[in-house]
Amino acid sequence: MTKRIVVLVSGNGGNLQAILDAVGDGRLAARVVGVVSNRPAVRALQRATTAGVPTVVVEPQPAETRVQYDERLCEVVGAWRPDIVVLAGFMRVLSPEFLDAFPQAVLNIHPALPGELPGTQAIERAHAQAQEGSRTHSGVMVHLVPDAGVDSGPVLASVQVAMQKSETLADFAARMHEAEHHLLVRALVEFIDRPLVEKTHQPLRFA
Ligand code: GRF
Repeated sequence: MTKRIVVLVSGNGGNLQAILDAVGDGRLAARVVGVVSNRPAVRALQRATTAGVPTVVVEPQPAETRVQYDERLCEVVGAWRPDIVVLAGFMRVLSPEFLDAFPQAVLNIHPALPGELPGTQAIERAHAQAQEGSRTHSGVMVHLVPDAGVDSGPVLASVQVAMQKSETLADFAARMHEAEHHLLVRALVEFIDRPLVEKTHQPLRFA
């Protein structure tokens, strides 16, 4: 049966667009059934609407705890009955109150290699290190999100991106985003194709 994907976003939505394009042209045998943003009026929401995908904004409320927010988010996402939840530039850490509702089903894309540069501004930090001469390459990974660890969890796919000292941040960022878009689609195709037992116990890694 066609897998149901819900995508969580916070901003531009380039990774969301890569998923929508892959679904649209048949590379990805899935359907994006909903998009949630924690921020209103972001470009990702326009992208979803253009593709005919329903959107919901779940904005944090003043004085709301992380758990309260995650419970509200869980209700919205759960109503779409997703097989897969993709964190595509979603700039919040999720607690077990959300993650336990979607076991082995939450994927995150992060613009760094496994174990490197967790958190925000990974592209900028990698670029700064290359300028200093302490880094020759970075990369991109897609991983499962089993717990509240930041940009950690079983790696499904990763790819290296070579760096040159002379490259501007804008050019490097553009290459990294392109790598992200390819890898995310590739990882989703693999994730959907593999049987559940393998998906659960045998994280896949490809270069
Ligand atoms: C991506 O680099 C993602 O990996 C990071 O935030 C960026 C979001 O880009 N966490 P977009 O919204 O998908 O264009």
